This record gives sequence, structure tokens and C-alpha cells, in this order.
Amino acid sequence: MTTPLIVALSKGRTVKALVPLLARAGIDASSLEQSDRSLIREAAGFRFLLLKPDDVPTYVEHGAADLGVCGRDVLRERDSDLLVPVDLEIGRCKMVVAARAGAKRDLDLPRVATKYPRTTAAYFAAQRVQAEIITLSGSVELAPLAGLADFIVDLVETGETLRQNGLEVVAEVQPVSTVLAVNRAAYKLRRAEIAALVERLRQAVSAAHGAPPSG
Ligand code: PRP
Repeated sequence: MTTPLIVALSKGRTVKALVPLLARAGIDASSLEQSDRSLIREAAGFRFLLLKPDDVPTYVEHGAADLGVCGRDVLRERDSDLLVPVDLEIGRCKMVVAARAGAKRDLDLPRVATKYPRTTAAYFAAQRVQAEIITLSGSVELAPLAGLADFIVDLVETGETLRQNGLEVVAEVQPVSTVLAVNRAAYKLRRAEIAALVERLRQAVSAAHGAPPSG
């Protein structure tokens, strides 16, 4: 029996979008949808590890997983040394700078709250703005409302969270989507299998985008 490829991925939204894409690629990953609390799920040829999004690159970099499915936001923040052979074109959103709608934009040492301190520091440095970065782990939109920060850097998908909290986009930092990330050693050692998987995923991604709308 061949050793399964180990894939790290995050629970929740990623799984929902990934399972149909894997099905298009001929991989039955329905075990990912079982609503139990087990953190390892098996599928033919694959073993899935269910993690928090920020931990996916850690498992792949250390070789505890061969592959990871995660957002470009997390990869950039972690500055991970991984190969990214295919964009899965799911989980599309934007990382943006936002502030209270209509508020005065004072760029004299602004306080910026974010879950992405490294990316945010690099962004403001590139704009030649010295900023105080305040690291949070969630509900970042609250920070300007509570007087903790002048700006936030966070993900926007529909824009609803910003709107409902009276915030607006000031600038775009980077587009974000979910990608397949590969451990460098695994890519060499299991090249044929991984290359075949990447090819199937590429075809599944283009089929998903080229398919006529259903119904
Ligand atoms: C993400 C993101 C925004 C929200 C954007 O948060 O951090 O808060 O989704 O989505 P929208 O533009 O469609 O409203 P998430 O739900 O992951 O929770 P978090 O605030 O705890 O990070």
C-alpha cells in the first residue's frame, strides 16, 4: 500500500469550498464533511489534518504535512518557504486598509489594528508611513469604533462587516485566494504524485470557472 499524501488544511469555510473542487479532480474527500471532532480524516491516497488557518504553513514547512491548503494572506504573513504550484481560486477576498467612514485620515504615526502585523508593517513602510501596529486575533473591525486604532488591515469579502460597523476601504493591500502549498522536500521525493495531483487540480479549477452556470 502506498503512503498517503498528508494535506494540512483549515476547518470551516475552506473545507466547504474545497470538497467540491477535489471531487472535480476525482478525489472523494467527503470524510472532511463528517461533523465529528476528529482532526485526522482519511481519503483514498490522502490523509487530511484539520488545523487553524495560521498553523497550516507550520505543518507543511516542518514536513508534518506534504501539502497545505491555505490563503495567500497566511502564507505572506508567515513568510513561508513553500512552493505554490496552483491557485485553487476559492476563498477569494481582498486584504484592505479600512477606517471609519468619513473620519479625518491622520497619517502622523497612525495606530493600525490587524491580525497581520508583518504584512501591515511592510505595507505601511512601503507607503513611507510610520505606523504603530496593534496585533489582534479577531473582530478587528471593532478597534476603530472603540478608539483602539485609527485604521485596520483585514480581509474583506462581501464588505458587509465593514458596512455594518461604519467603516470603509481606504486602500487595497493585496488580493487573497486559497492556494495549494507544497513542502520543498516532499516535492522532490514524491514529485510524480504531486505533479499529477497539481495537474488534476489545475484542470478542476479551470473546469469550475469555465462551467456554464447551473439551473
Ligand atoms: C473575516 C474578516 C472580516 C470578515 C469579512 O472574519 O476578518 O471580519 O470575514 O467578511 P465580509 O466582507 O464578507 O463581511 P472572520 O469571519 O473570519 O472572523 P474574525 O473577525 O474572527 O477574523
